[in-house]
Amino acid sequence: MIETAQWITLNTPQAVAERAVEEILRCAGAALEQQEHFKLVLAGGRTPALTYAMLAEKGINFSRWMFFLGDERCLPPEHPDRNSQLVVRHLLKPAQIPLQQFFPIPAELGAETGAQEYEKTIEGCLPFDCVLLGLGEDGHTASLFPGHSQEKTRLVVPVHNAPKAPSERISLTATALNTASTVVFLVAGKDKCSAVQQWRCGDEIPAATVSGAHETLIFVDKAANC
Ligand code: 6PG
Repeated sequence: MIETAQWITLNTPQAVAERAVEEILRCAGAALEQQEHFKLVLAGGRTPALTYAMLAEKGINFSRWMFFLGDERCLPPEHPDRNSQLVVRHLLKPAQIPLQQFFPIPAELGAETGAQEYEKTIEGCLPFDCVLLGLGEDGHTASLFPGHSQEKTRLVVPVHNAPKAPSERISLTATALNTASTVVFLVAGKDKCSAVQQWRCGDEIPAATVSGAHETLIFVDKAANC
């Protein structure tokens, strides 16, 4: 049964991050009662940084967590704009999580090869337990952009001519993302107003094609909920 997305409006980006951390910890607890590992897909962009920093400070035992990425920019591994660097900087390093638990997208190989390689990495790890995603001003999520064909048969796709720099990217598809029990969107800032309105009006923006098998939570701050 497809659950409808639940919109939760919060006063500030800090409150969005706090609720996201609560939800991630709830998902992790539930998953780890049933299985050996908690499989979490992390979001890129700027918004999730606060969530990662708060999660890192929780002082919990992350040893049974596996971290994946929903998308990556085709840049060198150490480039500061890489989503993998966002994760290392704000979560893995401060929480002293071994890099062996992190499965970055090898986007330095280029969009085509990197997508093929990451598809091999994740196909044996599905289903995910929790997916974190952001929302772009144009309604994109991960690197699934409006006007780009939504590949349904693949798990990971190359993205060319992305409207958000860099133009070369790699993204998990909705098919891969939707294997997760829970999907959590982190949305903050007035520049997301238009995308939020489109979504609430039922427009088929890329973000609206992603939903969790059991729940889809959209944490949005007041500035984005205009
Ligand atoms: C990326 C992200 C992208 C991001 C949205 C929102 O690589 O840029 O994966 O999908 O989540 O563009 O970005 P902000 O959180 O920076 O607003």
